[in-house]
Amino acid sequence: MSKKIFIKTFGCQMNEYDTNRIFDTVKKIGFTKTEDIEETNCYLLNTCHIRDRAKEKVYHEIGRVKKKFESKIKPLVIVAGCVAQAENEEMLKREPYIDIVIGPQAYHKINNKIEEYLNKQKKIDETDFDATLKFSYFNGIKNSSKKVSSFLTIQEGCDKFCHFCVVPYTRGPEYSRPFDEIINEAKTLAKNGVKEITLLGQNVNAYKYEDYKLSNLILEIEKIPEILRIRYTTSHPTDMTNDLIKVYGISKKLMPLVHLPVQSGSDKILKLMNRKHNVKDYIKICEKLKETNPAVKFSSDFIIGYPGEDQKDFEDTLELIKEIKFSNSFSFIFSPRPGTTASKLELIDRKITLERLEIIQKQLFNEQIKINKSLENSIINVLTENKTDKGDKFFGRSEYMTSVIFNSNDEDVGKIVKVKIIKSNQNTLFGEKVNKSRLKVA
Ligand code: SAM
Ligand code: SF4
Ligand code: F3S
Repeated sequence: MSKKIFIKTFGCQMNEYDTNRIFDTVKKIGFTKTEDIEETNCYLLNTCHIRDRAKEKVYHEIGRVKKKFESKIKPLVIVAGCVAQAENEEMLKREPYIDIVIGPQAYHKINNKIEEYLNKQKKIDETDFDATLKFSYFNGIKNSSKKVSSFLTIQEGCDKFCHFCVVPYTRGPEYSRPFDEIINEAKTLAKNGVKEITLLGQNVNAYKYEDYKLSNLILEIEKIPEILRIRYTTSHPTDMTNDLIKVYGISKKLMPLVHLPVQSGSDKILKLMNRKHNVKDYIKICEKLKETNPAVKFSSDFIIGYPGEDQKDFEDTLELIKEIKFSNSFSFIFSPRPGTTASKLELIDRKITLERLEIIQKQLFNEQIKINKSLENSIINVLTENKTDKGDKFFGRSEYMTSVIFNSNDEDVGKIVKVKIIKSNQNTLFGEKVNKSRLKVA
């Protein structure tokens, strides 16, 4: 019987990276990837625990799979990711349809666990933390990503313990991968045709291996000729060190969009959140980055309705948004996560929170629309990623991560092309590739 695995992924980019590494790993025991759930005999759900109803979403998904396979042979059902880590054996008790629960730091054991289950038919809970072993195992398995733009995890886990956040509990303590291992993986990706690498970590700018920091990694990856663009996410303001800021002045491949979550524009709330930085520190970092490279723009994450947030705190956040003019951002309603310090705090009125979210989003979206509109009639650099689903246009991204849909040709996939922007909306730019002969030489 052929072994087919279907993986559904929720959550952040690191989960996407993990999913690909799981595919690379299970290949060793004969599994091939399928996009068709109907033909799968191994169903894996890679879960996220960051906000509301994460757990319920998992049981709901499993319920749907159960229904689909009602009159067929049951597939092997694996729950992986951050909900698996947080809930572990509870999941096996609550939903007997689940066979294996495996946490993010135990993926190097996945093949053994699958085989163990297939041999003994005994439920398995594998949620140990062992990042060192995991990455040294993964290091022996080539990353097979062939996309134009790929992720590369360089750091995992978090020691910051922001009071609202579940990540330190689901991903464990901070761990940085060896420098050479990362460079080798970047070279493998380059050989596979990858042109853009996004370095990943829950605290990516806290990367430290021996004397190497994130700045060293960027400058070393920059030397790989096939790699045209480098990005990283997610960084914490307190780890935005001068050496990293300096790279924005010297690197030719590091993209000028800095995703730097601030969470709130109020010092009172930042303190309650245990963020370890204040608004002034944040603005200073943005200023330094702008001084180093005036092309730099910022995006951020905001939590609205954190316990204790009053009207003044909320207005301070609006003020900060006005000041920094974020080019795009994510805003979330505070969600109490089990086990975190903030989960015990009294929630503010839901109606007020929703009203504030609406106001914040309106302001963020207006800025986004304005920035995109200002690009109409200009020519920008776009890395062509793929054809659109309809197949009549191409999809790529600007240096600032904005999606661009444009007319082009197949040979441009993987290349940076000049695109004249004709139209725009909140999230997308639309345009036409400019042929070299039509470009004015300055
Ligand atoms: N490490 C990053 C940092 O320091 O900002 C963020 C990691 S988290 C995966 C992504 C975003 O989810 C956070 O920046 C925060 O805005 C949001 N988030 C985390 N916990 C949350 C919670 N309990 N409720 C609402 N949003 C939350
Ligand atoms: Fe969560 Fe980021 Fe804070 Fe770590 S630094 S606890 S990942 S929000
Ligand atoms: Fe979610 Fe875990 Fe990422 S909680 S955001 S999948 S680190």
